[in-house]
Amino acid sequence: MADRTLNVMCICGSLRRGSYNRMVMNALPGLAPAGMNITEAPPFSGFPLYNADVQEASGFPPPVQRLADAVRAADGVIFNSPEYNFSIPGGLKNAIDWVSRVPNQPFAGKPVALQSAANGTLGGGRMQYDLRRAMIFLDAMTLNRPEIFIGNCSTRIDARTGEITDQQAVGFIRQQLAAFAKFIVQHGPRS
Ligand SMILES: Cc1cc2nc3c(=O)[nH]c(=O)nc-3n(C[C@H](O)[C@H](O)[C@H](O)COP(=O)(O)O)c2cc1C
Repeated sequence: MADRTLNVMCICGSLRRGSYNRMVMNALPGLAPAGMNITEAPPFSGFPLYNADVQEASGFPPPVQRLADAVRAADGVIFNSPEYNFSIPGGLKNAIDWVSRVPNQPFAGKPVALQSAANGTLGGGRMQYDLRRAMIFLDAMTLNRPEIFIGNCSTRIDARTGEITDQQAVGFIRQQLAAFAKFIVQHGPRS
């Protein structure tokens, strides 16, 4: 494994207080391999809607710069996101759009892993493939496998305690985090 600590940052795509994706995100430090330190990204909930006129007139809002700096500083980024209407939640997409316009955009060459929990049976798979496509445009290095889709999430995560009760899902997450640690060591970041 890595001979140094790998600092991995999670971006949660749901703003909801009782978010299942946030529960999954919060479980990750306990499932990570030795040497992987997992923290939460600075919030994007206060970002204005992306507008190039705003960017030109007043530059990048401080919360955008904070998230961009945090992405740049991280050894890897994990997205924990629900699927909204078969795609990326608008708030998360808006955050990615803002960060993508920061000069020397920070997702380039960045190791990225995707996880989703959703109440549909596909577990957010359609969202993930849209997010994967956005990451291609940004030239991120997105881990291919294992994929984490937690379908029917209200039956697999205890909303009261936040515990992931489905042990198969827990096993897949452990495997993905171990694969992500190797992936970061082997492939990134570029600079
Ligand atoms: C606007 C909206 C759109 C949704 N669209 C989908 C969808 O396309 N597929 C799906 O599986 N669930 C969909 N859902 C249900 C979510 O999977 C469910 O609300 C889930 O708990 C959201 O994740 P969270 O708990 O992390 O907030 C949608 C929910 C909302 C609020």
